[in-house]
Amino acid sequence: MSIDDDKNKTNRFIRLLCVTIVTLGLVLVVLSCEGIRVSSYFTRGAIASVSPLASDVGRQVFKKGGNAFDVAVATALTLAVVHPQAGNLGGGGFALIRDGQTGDIRALDFREKAPAAAFEKMYQDSTGTVIEGLSTKGALSSGVPGTVAGLYKLWETYGSLPWNDLVLYAARFAETGFEVDEILANDFISYADALSAFTETSDLFLPDGRPLKAGERFVQPELASVLYQIAAEGAETFYRGNIADLIVDGLGAHGGIITHEDLESYNVRWLDPIHFKFDSLDIYSMPPPSSGGIIMGQILKLIEPFDFSKYNADSPEYIHLFTEASRLAFADRSAHLGDPDFWKIPSGMLDEKYINFRRQKIAIERAGQSEEIQPGNPSAVESDETTHLSVCDNDGNMVSITTTLNATFGSKLVVSGAGFLMNNEMDDFSIRPGYPNIWGLIGGEANKIEPAKRMLSSMSPTLVLQNKRPRLITGSSGGSKIITTVAQNIINLFRFRMTPQESVLKARFHHQWIPDLLYFEKGAFSSEQVDALKGLSHILKERSLYGDLHIITIDDNGFMQAASDSRRGGATAGY
Ligand code: DON
Repeated sequence: MSIDDDKNKTNRFIRLLCVTIVTLGLVLVVLSCEGIRVSSYFTRGAIASVSPLASDVGRQVFKKGGNAFDVAVATALTLAVVHPQAGNLGGGGFALIRDGQTGDIRALDFREKAPAAAFEKMYQDSTGTVIEGLSTKGALSSGVPGTVAGLYKLWETYGSLPWNDLVLYAARFAETGFEVDEILANDFISYADALSAFTETSDLFLPDGRPLKAGERFVQPELASVLYQIAAEGAETFYRGNIADLIVDGLGAHGGIITHEDLESYNVRWLDPIHFKFDSLDIYSMPPPSSGGIIMGQILKLIEPFDFSKYNADSPEYIHLFTEASRLAFADRSAHLGDPDFWKIPSGMLDEKYINFRRQKIAIERAGQSEEIQPGNPSAVESDETTHLSVCDNDGNMVSITTTLNATFGSKLVVSGAGFLMNNEMDDFSIRPGYPNIWGLIGGEANKIEPAKRMLSSMSPTLVLQNKRPRLITGSSGGSKIITTVAQNIINLFRFRMTPQESVLKARFHHQWIPDLLYFEKGAFSSEQVDALKGLSHILKERSLYGDLHIITIDDNGFMQAASDSRRGGATAGY
């Protein structure tokens, strides 16, 4: 063989290599530009939400030059139209954000507030018995909604595109309608009875007296008109204008107590996030009135020193440790947490000394007994339907928003003439000491009902940084189980090295002190795991799938990988 042959061979090889690299590059560019539905890499901006339609709106806003905040606002408003089970105008929520320019990390609280006429025993009869359904259904179950004010504040502070443009995506979906997908159609069927309780609601969700089927068009003209007003006038119309009138009259007709003054005095507030270290990570999550940041922090700090090198995510030893940490943390939740404007939160709940003291109560060889575990005393020893979305852009802006109506379809009451559902968030208060809310959580004095107070939440929108670099945006639905879902997501990614998609699909387990049960998702545990955990004295209960993680991870090169829980139809998109 001649030297020329060798040269030719080498040249052909180099050409082939170049063609391969260019082809791979093109595939990557196509993947990153076109909003692929599966977990994907993006370079300019990424979004993960429960709805393909909403995530696609996010992609369009990115394409128009919007930043992560613009995308978050437009997507959240679209969810109010295309995901009425939880997306909302009549609810509230929280956002954890990072401002890429300054590196500031802030928490925005737009949680609902109790109306001024609310009082501690409003859901009890004269004998102190809780009146079934009063805190969960209808006009009395609603707190003063915060979502519109919250999204407006986010845009006002950090948005770059005109407000009007961001709201129009949602308004158009409401006006022209969208095709009902399988998940929404199934929810319409499952909740058909509940949705027929009020004519305003059944007229909207059960047109012709029956649930809309998959493939049929869902048009919401009243909601469209409300959204066009919000687009033109901002949040003002919701709290002081025409929409405020509809809310007061609509709820008033059903015995509601929310007044114009309640709406006018509603305020959102910026709070310092809960910050704690876990391994080499800086974790930032929601402070009270959410229990999310503190309780997740306690769980992760309690298990941090344990060596996981011999465990994987299915090891009974790991599940046991996580459960015991949850048991202790949720006991603290019941006693110590409430709206900080009304209740003094003990300062030491994440202090090393306190966490070390509480950790001594974890026995490696045996489950604790919840009746023997009491809430600790941090000072002495010196958080089924919510929706989460994560957004990130290549300027380092990060947005993690969890928003809710509380139960699926909230209070089931649609505001007459306005076409949106009100929340039933009042049930998140402790409506009587020791009486469980719909998430089975109990509480007392710290979370009792008081006028203008915010009810304790478990929502945990979370940002994770490492060496000051953005690493993860995460959050989920799931009521009390949000906290353990997000904590397990962090462990699965950073200790068990799962891919983002593996981590959002990993079956979950949960313990919340009371009831003394270790819940696990259907199929989460093998019979061997069940036996091993029973051998450690855990009381196990299988339950349906829960939680709905929508996350974005960011690698060293700034590549963003978005992953959505496909079990609820979630979708990622980006640019
Ligand atoms: O704020 C809370 O903790 C509850 N209202 C959240 C409800 C929820 O996550 C429903 N989703 N499954």
